[in-house]
Amino acid sequence: MENFNVAIIGCGTVGSGVAKILLDMQNELSVRANQKIVLKSIVDIYPAKSAQTYNIPLNLFKGGGKDLSKEEASKYIDEVIADKSINLIVESIGGTSDFLLNKMLDTLKAKKHLVTANKAILAEQGKALFNSAKENNVCLGYEASVCGAIPIIKSIRESFAGDQVMEISGIMNGTSNYILSKMQEEGLDFATALKMAQEMGYAEADPTLDISGGDAGHKLAILIKLAFGTDVKYNDLMLTGIQKVGKEDLDFANEMGCTIKLICYARKIDGKIIATVKPMMVKYDNFLSKVSGATNCVQLVNKYSGTHYFIGKGAGSLETASSIVADIVFSARYNDRIQNITESDILQLVSSDNVEFAYNITFATVDYPGITGLVTTAIGEQHINIDTVSHNRHNKERAIFSVATMPCTLEQIKKAIAQIRLKAPSALIEEPKIIPILK
Ligand code: HSE
Repeated sequence: MENFNVAIIGCGTVGSGVAKILLDMQNELSVRANQKIVLKSIVDIYPAKSAQTYNIPLNLFKGGGKDLSKEEASKYIDEVIADKSINLIVESIGGTSDFLLNKMLDTLKAKKHLVTANKAILAEQGKALFNSAKENNVCLGYEASVCGAIPIIKSIRESFAGDQVMEISGIMNGTSNYILSKMQEEGLDFATALKMAQEMGYAEADPTLDISGGDAGHKLAILIKLAFGTDVKYNDLMLTGIQKVGKEDLDFANEMGCTIKLICYARKIDGKIIATVKPMMVKYDNFLSKVSGATNCVQLVNKYSGTHYFIGKGAGSLETASSIVADIVFSARYNDRIQNITESDILQLVSSDNVEFAYNITFATVDYPGITGLVTTAIGEQHINIDTVSHNRHNKERAIFSVATMPCTLEQIKKAIAQIRLKAPSALIEEPKIIPILK
């Protein structure tokens, strides 16, 4: 049996999990890959710290286990890339620096397979990386980059190769889902729930990407490219985070038979794609509404095979590492015959503003007789059919109520709000909150 040698660059939470699985399961993995999978070397700045959690032998680390300067680490990475005996490199350094991008491109040019969980660099610089993998006939494994342990990439690429994904909707950021679940289930406010997510280790110390929709947006961009073949720019996705979701919004959602989730949504529509990441009200009879805590769930609606759900752990050391190791086995087994992402760019990304959706609009108005009628009349005049009007929360001088619509466009809603402003210039105390409803 030939050796298939692996190196890991960056041995933090995910990289150390990969090392552990490679060492624990060498026999099984080798049988599955039909080649002896060998963890040959690791490059990390702080080997002793990285080796600690899973007792990784220090002699596997370049430099013999002593701490490295950045320059030394860079030199060792180059050494690994130049080492002809190494077949595959796992990148688990993270970030989107030019330094990292260049090392990844160098790996592919050296005709080594590359496996990464780095969603940010794939979403932002994926084109250069996928093109290079194709030119050099090597695999670029990225199963772990979208929803950690959930095998969504291979399912779309392999299992659904005979079908077409028409719609993707999912909960792809565990931190946001944990926060929203705590707010809804335990009545906590946003700041307290965020602090708990940080204490549980779900959110980063700087959780900006998690709560702003950025992390989820990276994942959606990767899935769109894979499922629809279009290289959507991450910056073109309309991203709204969960920072402004309050207890009141969750109360209105509950009254309307919904919960609020940060939803990644993309759909093929008339030869185009709409895509967005934003908080949505999810009806209680939609399975996504039941997904609570840090769990991830992706729903795919396919043309021929119908609806599928993928649910599981979206983060975690060994969970994410298991996806990376699966890509290592896959690369060893199929060598350069893995189909990397190819783009057709036939489908163009368009704004969802003119596509019909059901919406919930929460109004905070001056409280006087006739205000609800004025608001609902303005909505009706834009040919928007109303589904439900909530109870009115009379709060001092304010009336706060929600209107759930039947499918209509955001354009229609904006016109209705402009009409309200025209008819009663000082009636709206705050900008109405508009949130799509996922049925
Ligand atoms: N921080 C992410 C989450 C996991 O909360 O889901 C890595 O993308």
